[in-house]
Amino acid sequence: MQTVRDLNDLRAAIAAFRAEGARIALVPTMGALHAGHIALVEAAKRTGTKVVASIFVNPRQFGPNEDLARYPRREAADSRMLVEAGCDLLWLPPVEAMYPESFATSISVAGVTETLDGASRPGHFDGVATVVAKLFNQVGPDAAYFGEKDYQQLLVIRRLAADLDFAIDVVGVPTQRDDDGLALSSRNLYLDEEERAKAVALPRALGVAARAIARGVATEDATAEAQASLVAAGFTVDYVAVVDAETLAPDPGPARPRRLLAAARMGQTRLIDNIAVTLD
Ligand code: PAF
Repeated sequence: MQTVRDLNDLRAAIAAFRAEGARIALVPTMGALHAGHIALVEAAKRTGTKVVASIFVNPRQFGPNEDLARYPRREAADSRMLVEAGCDLLWLPPVEAMYPESFATSISVAGVTETLDGASRPGHFDGVATVVAKLFNQVGPDAAYFGEKDYQQLLVIRRLAADLDFAIDVVGVPTQRDDDGLALSSRNLYLDEEERAKAVALPRALGVAARAIARGVATEDATAEAQASLVAAGFTVDYVAVVDAETLAPDPGPARPRRLLAAARMGQTRLIDNIAVTLD
């Protein structure tokens, strides 16, 4: 795996892949890689493309009171994992290359950013959309892979790609989970042993609520029950909501696909998770 930290070197490496006739897939990450990220690389590899992973802890998607300074940085371990997964190129841009002092552009996606994490984390999705648009332009991939764990982010990036005519297939990959069901996340590293044990209440609450809705329990009752069980487990709940799976609109009509999403804080750590909701 080649590692590049300079935009000219990235462009040269991409041009060499293209000269071989290769298709290119991008896996954007902020590092602290886990099996969820590796599943993205493997999904891309299965399509026979060259895989470019990026690691950039993007300051623009962290709010002033969020965890930018303590976000885990593990470059050597990340690099080893990517080599083992068969990644072809690692793009490690320095912050000055991404955001020089003169940088003055922000991309704002309306609609799907206005609720849920968009409401709780003002500016977060502008930061995500801006950095992802830059990565798309820098790498020029045919496809880009994102985890469904960040479900709202996936929809924001789909909207961004469609609206700005990026000819990039935005692929969502199912959430990878620990054996007890907790969704893999770099932020799980913040949980101490006791918090980690309690955190399993999040996927369990979502599973119970989704099954209840499938049996015909009213959505409001099922989400209220999920909220209560999260509080009982020690979470501070930000939201538990069933929304339209494509637009994130509340109150999806009866024929619409639905998604149950939740965000809740265990101690200092904010966790998110989501699952599909089907009606029996
Ligand atoms: O999901 C992430 O790790 C980040 O939000 C992303 C997509 C790499 C943009 O910084």
